[in-house]
Formats: sequence, structure tokens, C-alpha cells
Amino acid sequence: MTTSSCAEHPAGCPIAGPGEAFFVSVKSVPKSAALGGSDLRLVDALVRSLALVIELRDKQTGLHCRMVGGLVARTATMLDVSPAERRIFRLAGELHDLGKIAIPDRLLHNKDELDAGEWKVVRAHAQHGGDVLAELVGVSEDIDSIAKLVVAHHEHWNGHGYPNGMAGIDIPLGARIISVCDAYSSLVMSRSYRSAVGHREALKVICAHSGTSFDPGVLAAFESLDWSESDLSAPRWRDCPY
Ligand SMILES: [Fe+2]
Repeated sequence: MTTSSCAEHPAGCPIAGPGEAFFVSVKSVPKSAALGGSDLRLVDALVRSLALVIELRDKQTGLHCRMVGGLVARTATMLDVSPAERRIFRLAGELHDLGKIAIPDRLLHNKDELDAGEWKVVRAHAQHGGDVLAELVGVSEDIDSIAKLVVAHHEHWNGHGYPNGMAGIDIPLGARIISVCDAYSSLVMSRSYRSAVGHREALKVICAHSGTSFDPGVLAAFESLDWSESDLSAPRWRDCPY
């Protein structure tokens, strides 16, 4: 009996029978294959699935990611970003802390100041998120774009961020938007190590870092959002029970 070859076993797959090929490596799927360069439904489903992984790992991080995704979409609209790009930014916002699934609970929910070694572990989450998404590279160009934004969401406008110390407009716009929305969301949600602050106080804190941590143009757009429409000051955010 002859056996079929597959991406993993070019000389003959031990699982696939004649004429069958059960193993198809994700990386072997060309961008122009049946999945297409940008299969919207596939990418949306992958993001929903990974967002659920984040939420199941840690409910509060999941809520935070959803909140950031919504804020990113609204800020991108203020910046006249095209609908297609806005969608990518929103999806990246929803997955920006994906890499936190690899951070131990004792650090994720730490009530004390982290030491240098612990910070290093926590900061690795930006690259971890990119690494998870990198496994899907080739499935869709959208995933490639989302992965780049996830990795860069802690870069700072002045070049003092991580993981790559990018600065200014070298940081992708989507990552600059996520960075602002991430900081705001982190402040208005309670954490194990501090309580939440109100909307005005959160804006004051992030504006103090305009031109250092944050892109001033993005921050101005964020500030100009119609906050009266928002329910971000609602108790469910301030007193997150998770
Ligand atoms: Fe993060």
C-alpha cells in the first residue's frame, strides 16, 4: 500500500492513507490559497477564539481587552483611519494582552511592587502575544498586521518603551492608539494592586505623559471622543469583581 506524503512527512505520511493527506501544516498554506489573503470571517473567528482564551485565563484581563478594542475603534474613527484599517486596529486591541496567558498568577495579581526580574517576566507578554499570532502567519495578512500591533503596544513615543524601543511614527499607528486606550482602561478598572480612578483623573494621568509615553496627536483624538456616550464610568468597570 502506498502512503500519501504531507508537509510533515514528505517521504510518506504514516497517518494519511492512499490519496489522503490529513496533515496540512498551517505554514504550508500559501496566502493566495482557498483561505484567501484576507478572509474576514476566518480572522474574526480566530480573534474571538483567542479573546475567549484570554478571558478564560483571567476574567479581568479579558474585560480590559474588550474595553480597549472598543476604545481603539472609536479613537481610530476620530483619526480618519480607513474602515479596513480600523477593523485591524480594533482586533489588535482585543488581543493586545494575549501574551498575559503566559504570566503566572502570582505576578498577574501581585499586590506588591514587582522587582526587576518580575517586571522582565511581565513585560515579555508583548512578545508572547506576537509569538502566538506568529504561528498563524501565512493564514491571513490581517493576522500578520494584528501581530505587529500586539508586539508594539508597549512602545513609547520617546523610544523608552518595550520590547524594541521604537520611537515616534516608527511605532505603527494602531499600536500608538492601543497604547493610549490601554493606559486609560487600566486606570479606570480596579486592579489587585490599586483601586480604579475616575474618568477625569485617568485622562489627567495619561495627558501628563503626552509626548513621552504617548503620541500627542493620538492623545488629542482620544480626549475628543464623545465621553457622554460612554458608560466607562459605570460601577461595573470601577468595581470589576474579577
Ligand atoms: Fe500589555
